Amino acid sequence: MHVAIAGSTGVLGSHLIRRVTCAGHIVTPIARYHGVDLVTGRGLDAALDGVDVVIDASDPRPRGLADGEELRSEVREAAERLLEAAYVMGAYRLISVSVLGVEHAAFDAFAPYLAKREKEAIAHAHDLPTTVVKASHFHEFALNPAGVHAFADQVLVQDMLLQPVAAGAVAAAITEMLEADMMTEVIELAGPEEIRLPELTRRVLDVHRDRRAVMPIAPLVRQMGTGVLLAPDTALMVGPTVTEWLDIYARDNAVCTPY
Ligand SMILES: NC(=O)c1ccc[n+]([C@@H]2O[C@H](COP(=O)([O-])OP(=O)(O)OC[C@H]3O[C@@H](n4cnc5c(N)ncnc54)[C@H](OP(=O)(O)O)[C@@H]3O)[C@@H](O)[C@H]2O)c1
Repeated sequence: MHVAIAGSTGVLGSHLIRRVTCAGHIVTPIARYHGVDLVTGRGLDAALDGVDVVIDASDPRPRGLADGEELRSEVREAAERLLEAAYVMGAYRLISVSVLGVEHAAFDAFAPYLAKREKEAIAHAHDLPTTVVKASHFHEFALNPAGVHAFADQVLVQDMLLQPVAAGAVAAAITEMLEADMMTEVIELAGPEEIRLPELTRRVLDVHRDRRAVMPIAPLVRQMGTGVLLAPDTALMVGPTVTEWLDIYARDNAVCTPY
């Protein structure tokens, strides 16, 4: 199978590149780094030539300071361009990654999640058969500037209550979907346990022997701290626990010890 992976240089996309390649498929990476821009359409048709399935793990956002409307418009533009180009170039399926919980009313005025809702709606409305994979925050979110703000002497972390999933486990689940005949419209994925983001960040910084103080701050949306991002009963639990993931993370990011 020939698979295009949009967002190929990102946290999830890098795992997808490895997993999908190892499963024996031909892979075409899509990112601005690879000369393809989903927002302007530069290089898109050429990248999708001969592709059977498109996986969208991109996360477009305007460069520099942008307001919520600019962000939403960029996400919509990218989603529409990718879907239309995939359809016209003959792909038969799209797997589009989104965030678990964005539909909750707590996010009715939160532009990043409104953008995700719009992207999901665009995918469902198109003629190209689409599966939307709604994943909970990744373990890797422990260092993501969307929730973690690092300074020289301390790290401020939004006090979100999460049920994180390993990006590698999401990539593995998506790779398995490529072989499945059945096309489910929505699949929800989460990890096996709950943790507050400041604790997760503390444990990841410990791997790096980074002793800066971790200070919890209020999340951008208050309810992010009270459970709206936890997995519903309908979600599949996949991947390692936090402790198991940290072992893998420590091995992959082993600090070189001098002789
Ligand atoms: N991070 C999380 O905890 C989390 C949790 C649940 C779901 N998700 C969702 O999973 C998806 C991937 O997240 P991630 O954290 O892996 O994202 P990421 O690390 O920020 O990577 C984003 C990717 O999108 C590409 N991209 C951005 N703008 C582009 C454009 N205009 N044209 C082409 N490519 C573009 C980037 O490459 P270039 O910069 O080279 O273009 C990069 O490869 C997103 O939809 C995200 O909302 C993330």
